[in-house]
Amino acid sequence: MSQAPLAAYPALRMRRLRQADWTRRLVRESVLTPSDLIWSMVVHEGEGRIPVGSMPGVERLSVAEAARAAVEARELGIPAIAIFPHIDGARKDAAGSLASDPDGLIARAVKAMKDAAPEVGIMCDVALDPFTDHGHDGLIENGRILNDATVERLVEQGLMQAKAGCDILAPSDMMDGRVAALRAALEAEGLQDAMIMSYAAKYASAFYGPYREAIGSGKLGTGSVDNPGDKKTYQMDSANSAEALREVALDIAEGADMVMVKPGLPYLDIVRQVVDAFAMPTFAFQVSGEYAMIMAAAQNGWLDEERSILESLGAFKRAGAAGVITYFAPRAARLLGS
Ligand code: PBG
Repeated sequence: MSQAPLAAYPALRMRRLRQADWTRRLVRESVLTPSDLIWSMVVHEGEGRIPVGSMPGVERLSVAEAARAAVEARELGIPAIAIFPHIDGARKDAAGSLASDPDGLIARAVKAMKDAAPEVGIMCDVALDPFTDHGHDGLIENGRILNDATVERLVEQGLMQAKAGCDILAPSDMMDGRVAALRAALEAEGLQDAMIMSYAAKYASAFYGPYREAIGSGKLGTGSVDNPGDKKTYQMDSANSAEALREVALDIAEGADMVMVKPGLPYLDIVRQVVDAFAMPTFAFQVSGEYAMIMAAAQNGWLDEERSILESLGAFKRAGAAGVITYFAPRAARLLGS
């Protein structure tokens, strides 16, 4: 704030500009539109749509349903969809071997969605956790998550995604050096138009809980050598913000086109700091737990569902975000009357 207000009460009455809808619209500082939304979507290998219990209103979609959803996104004015795979537990292993399968669920979903609605951007998570039986984002050796060996696997996964037609690669693993490795590999393969949105400041968070059900994630262990208990050796400590700025600076230097802060609402201070510090297209992920909290309270009659959805999404715009990855995207786009 450059200056204190010149007038004082009663000459200054802040409520004057709030007295009617037209004055409020006239002085509104930030606006949420469907163009701000990236639709977070779970896809599965079977047929049809399967509800996710802890996320009322969210369903896992078959490849065919995901293609239909891409058309729906186009009609709603939603620019992009981020897809997350639900893989049959019996097909997972410690190395997450299916992560780079060129004929796998992600490759098939990307192709079907781009065929159905080429104007809609498709974003893919670069991370091993949907494919590992232990649920971690990295390879494990003697109870430790290996960094560099994991990055090699992430590069194979990212290249597969880009070759399948994915527009935005979104590394969500928090290994060091993965953005540089991905960018170099994309250049070497002539895939220079593939965009990278890095999960740059991603925190070890309780708010990812419902996501584990949604994608059928392997159960994180209790600290054994095969499965260290939590993700705190790679995802960030929720107490830190200076570290977030260093993480973002690194990913920009390594070649990220866009950066992300995750989770969303509990980390709006980080969003604002990143926007102010780097002037990069900065996104926030309204994660599964944030979705579940709003829906659970609304279903109990404790919150007005529609107002809560739009107010929570609008908060990201006020904080300076370019957009929001959210499971509410189709709902919100309809409410916004696109
Ligand atoms: C995987 C990944 C996670 C989410 C997106 N990608 C979970 C995690 O890191 O543990 C969370 C999404 C959500 O909660 O909505 N790396």
